[in-house]
Amino acid sequence: MEANPSSQYLSFDRVAEQYDATRFLPESVREAVVEQILSAASLAPGHWLVDAGVGTGRFALPIARRGVNVLGLDVSRNMMRQLLRKTPPANLYLAQADLRSLPVRSRSISAVLVAHVLHLIAGWREVLQECRRVLRQEGVLFLLYESGKRFPAREYYVQLAGERGLLRPALGVQSADEALEYVRETGGAVSLIEHPSLRWQARRTHQEVLQELEKRTYSQLWDIPDEAHRELMERTLRYVREQFGSEEETYTAEAEVRLYAVRF
Ligand SMILES: C[S@@+](CC[C@H](N)C(=O)[O-])C[C@H]1O[C@@H](n2cnc3c(N)ncnc32)[C@H](O)[C@@H]1O
Repeated sequence: MEANPSSQYLSFDRVAEQYDATRFLPESVREAVVEQILSAASLAPGHWLVDAGVGTGRFALPIARRGVNVLGLDVSRNMMRQLLRKTPPANLYLAQADLRSLPVRSRSISAVLVAHVLHLIAGWREVLQECRRVLRQEGVLFLLYESGKRFPAREYYVQLAGERGLLRPALGVQSADEALEYVRETGGAVSLIEHPSLRWQARRTHQEVLQELEKRTYSQLWDIPDEAHRELMERTLRYVREQFGSEEETYTAEAEVRLYAVRF
């Protein structure tokens, strides 16, 4: 790895302990994602899936529990340590690796999952090329994005931070569309897997959202100086009280997993 990898990608080492609490996905949706992946790639026990940027194993764990062999790769040891605390089954293997060069034989893998990773890596095109290289001929690359969850407190804080130029720009791909355009250019056929089970209503109190913001777990927020952060938090709290009466109120936001299957 380079002398200064932080200019090339963002490891999640520093937020590993808070990560799961802020990326909540209902169990039923997680299971639905797994179901769709297994069925779209016709995965059966004994087949191999690479979870590229495995993190704390949100998807790797339930996939491995279905009997599919999973190789989880990540640069962050701390994230993978969190995964290991969840007592993974013996068919879930982990390795520290930079996704720009996968430690995997060409054409040996039935499916690759890339969930919320490409915006963190300057060389995201190399990552996609590597995914393609390791896939068997009939293999499937899954690109997963969570969308929605537009909670007013978060929207407001991020808007204010953006206006002040405090948001950390994405090192990698700027949008899902940009990634999809690239896979199409390189010969991939893309289909969006649509299923009602991939949509849900996310409910949180404003207070819960404020507590998440407080920790600045989202990588966009990592560079916000403490003083500016305190002021933004105060303004956001005022905004919530003015708009909704109290931070104890629950807000419901539409949420969705967008799961794309790519075949080369
Ligand atoms: C937002 S998390 C997503 C984790 C998991 N896929 C999920 O959906 O919960 C992104 C992960 O990508 C990892 N990552 C960032 N750059 C990487 C790279 N160049 N190679 C491998 N992993 C990387 C981070 O350490 C982090 O664990």
